[in-house]
Amino acid sequence: MCGIVGYIGTQQAAPLLLEGLTRLEHRGYDSAGVAVIGGSGVRVAKKAGRVRDLGESLPKRFAGRAGIGHTRWATHGPANDVNAHPHTDAEGRVAVVHNGIIDNAAALRAELIEGGVELISDTDTEVLAHLVAASTAETLEERVAEALARVEGTYGVAFVHADFPDRIVVARNGSPLIIGVGEKEMHVASDLAALVRYTTTVAHLDDGEMATVTSAGFTTYRLSPSGPSAVDRRAAAVDIDPSEYDAGDTDSFMHKEMREQPAVAERVLRGRLDERFGTSHLGGLELDARELRAIRRIKILGCGSAYYVGQMGAALVEELARIPADAEAASEFRYRNPIIEPDTLYVAVSQSGETIDTLLAIQEIKRKGGRVIGVVNVVGSAIAREVDGGIYLHAGPEVAVASTKALTNMFLAFALLALQLGRVRDLSLAEGKELITALSDLPDQIQQILESEEKLAPIAERLAEAASLFFIGRVRGYPVAREGAQKFKEISYRHAEAYQTSELKHGPLALISTEVPTVAIVPDDELVERNVAALHEIAARGGPLVVVTHDGVDLGEVVKGDCHRIDVPRSVRALDPILLTVPLQVLAYRAALHLGLDIDKPRNLAKSVTVE
Ligand code: F6R
Repeated sequence: MCGIVGYIGTQQAAPLLLEGLTRLEHRGYDSAGVAVIGGSGVRVAKKAGRVRDLGESLPKRFAGRAGIGHTRWATHGPANDVNAHPHTDAEGRVAVVHNGIIDNAAALRAELIEGGVELISDTDTEVLAHLVAASTAETLEERVAEALARVEGTYGVAFVHADFPDRIVVARNGSPLIIGVGEKEMHVASDLAALVRYTTTVAHLDDGEMATVTSAGFTTYRLSPSGPSAVDRRAAAVDIDPSEYDAGDTDSFMHKEMREQPAVAERVLRGRLDERFGTSHLGGLELDARELRAIRRIKILGCGSAYYVGQMGAALVEELARIPADAEAASEFRYRNPIIEPDTLYVAVSQSGETIDTLLAIQEIKRKGGRVIGVVNVVGSAIAREVDGGIYLHAGPEVAVASTKALTNMFLAFALLALQLGRVRDLSLAEGKELITALSDLPDQIQQILESEEKLAPIAERLAEAASLFFIGRVRGYPVAREGAQKFKEISYRHAEAYQTSELKHGPLALISTEVPTVAIVPDDELVERNVAALHEIAARGGPLVVVTHDGVDLGEVVKGDCHRIDVPRSVRALDPILLTVPLQVLAYRAALHLGLDIDKPRNLAKSVTVE
């Protein structure tokens, strides 16, 4: 949430900062700004709206070979020019960009106002510029450290100061900060996405660390009450393909990422399937067979789509390993004083590895002595570092706000976990082998669904015309419906409500009419007849239907009415949910495309929710 960039070197900073911000825009896109240090001191340009609006409005002469930039997702105060970052002190000598939240901002603001400082924005960040400006310490590093010592909360920050034009000072506490090393130039960013075009040699700051970045290199320090003390942090090459951060010739990252699913699904399975013993290898779990056997319960925690796929994961674990399992929204978990059991394995699931609600849930579990593993995409992210072990998703960078390929790989990671847990219990060798075959078939089956995009498009366009719609499913189909509704509302702004099919007649059936379509998840499983009966109840009330099902399922008279069916390839029942999910991604995507919406940057949202 929010993005930071910085540059210092031999080139003009502003164009590089704008380019970096464009690559971070998915992290916040309600306003943007840059500050450069040139001959006339610090100059700031900032604006509500997109980075391109900022670029168009940049003054002609905006020279400087060092600078910082920010793209914002508003937390304190509306998205307007004044609240956009960078923020400065009254004289405009200090400029700061900030990700995170300063919890004691109100107290600090009151103190500054009492001291005669005029605060012009509604933000928590502005106080930082004034605190640094007020410091009389000798170096910029000491001034920044002094200011940060007053702050409670989370931050990734970057400062420039007119009196110290040869440096950018950055610091991190709970919000990522990366330094990129170039030839006689250095970059700063909150996310690799902003750096990969220039360098893949990077150093990650840890929480509680700060750094001085000059065109010649960087020096790192640990923040401590007695001031900054030097720590040795080296840059290292990261193995990354910069083209993964480009949308290529598709219209959106979401489309590109959906279409990558067969390939990334293969990647998460690669080297992890053991055909001989019909099991999986998950070295990162750091749990031996004895410890796996001792697990009595699995509790999965995630937010949004990660929570829904967590529900799919819990069903997989119960079905394959017969261990009681459930998923809970990480955002709620720690507020109900949860009971942490020693023989429960807690699983935190997150694409970004940054979601603060999930991170705080992990910290609560660990504080009470529980064991947590992570199912995470971003290597080295805060959650990946916090957990006791885990499974990386290997989905590559996910840029679109709406999660697709990471979600598919989360499901597969849960399948691998369930398989291993099952095989140290009662899942037979034959069942294990059958699951491995089914898992290996999934990438091709996902590909088949993606190839039907043009057939799905008219159905999506029809759904897009409705103001309100239902997504229904039951048991293993219910989290699929939740995820389908989530994707649809997120990018098409239609009211899409997920419901258990069985609960429909207990209330929401009252809303069914010719104006309210229902997308029904009807796999060919033990509930198929009951599901079809519910379809009849909807059809009898004139409700249009889109049924996501399997070839051969008899939908009866329903098909004679306003009904479209989408058949997905069959897998073993436990793996059906992911194949039922993929067409719902396509429907959401094509609906948003039809409506002409900004698919990758839906309103009010941002990738990586790093605030509570
Ligand atoms: C939906 C979506 C969000 C995220 C949620 C958790 O498409 O992307 O609901 O799933 O914010 O994010 P991560 O997985 O990064 O923890």
